[in-house]
Amino acid sequence: MPQISTAVDFYERHPITAQIILARLEAARGTLDGLRPDELFAHDQDHYGGLAANDALAACAQIGAGTAVVDLCAGLGGPARYLAHRYGADVTGIELTPSRVAGAAELTRRVGLDARVRVVEGDVTALPLADASADAVVSQEALLHVPDLGRALCEAHRVLRPNGRIAFTNWVVHRPLSEADRQLLWDGMAAATLIGIDEHCELLRCAGFAMERVEDETEAWGRILAERLRMYEALRREAEQAGTPAGHDDFYRSYVLFVGLVRERTMGGARFAAVKI
Ligand SMILES: C[S@@+](CC[C@H](N)C(=O)[O-])C[C@H]1O[C@@H](n2cnc3c(N)ncnc32)[C@H](O)[C@@H]1O
Repeated sequence: MPQISTAVDFYERHPITAQIILARLEAARGTLDGLRPDELFAHDQDHYGGLAANDALAACAQIGAGTAVVDLCAGLGGPARYLAHRYGADVTGIELTPSRVAGAAELTRRVGLDARVRVVEGDVTALPLADASADAVVSQEALLHVPDLGRALCEAHRVLRPNGRIAFTNWVVHRPLSEADRQLLWDGMAAATLIGIDEHCELLRCAGFAMERVEDETEAWGRILAERLRMYEALRREAEQAGTPAGHDDFYRSYVLFVGLVRERTMGGARFAAVKI
């Protein structure tokens, strides 16, 4: 398996694709005709905490009917479609990996949300959006992949209207990481920016935001991660018994490391909310 060199490399090999989601749903319901947005939600949320995590961001960012939302690092568009479906928001996702952009378009079209959700190919450090064009910016557990997080937050500030809000979750570091651990988290999961809660707040303030709240999600993530690790271990055992490839080794090793680091509170997750001043 070649080494990853960018987040795009990593996500081009992601095991869950739009095709796989649609194939599962077709097998379960016999047809894809009449597919509803809520039927995707068990499959298209690539972050910890599922739909409740989206509700928490929606509350922080004051998202409601007609709110113009930008979703940074939108993936297959799961959170974007949820915010449109549940809250009536109009959502523009920004996503770097071309196959995720294409997958997002396919899923969004299948559930008839294309008038209110679009995922645009782009880099969150250079948003292809006009100044002061959004009411809210959100991002779900993805900014760790962005090498220049400060630049991405300045871009979020630029595209927000005055008093617009940003709310996002991200990985955080509570205690110093060894170079070897940082390297493995990069090699296995394309984790480019691993910083503490205070450093996130400082970057937000430097970008021109006033902090509204910070919630440490480390304990909740620890429980979710332990459950996911058991699932990966079971899948690897099944693959070994069937003699099929067990998957990306660096990913597995770095995932095991990450779960351990969260369990001992060296790393964790947090939700940040701030307002443009
Ligand atoms: C963990 S996934 C999260 C997807 C989505 N937020 C969700 O919760 O379903 C992270 C996504 O960030 C994207 N990404 C990484 N770096 C990016 C960048 N600089 N600009 C835009 N998207 C980026 C990746 O391609 C990937 O699809």
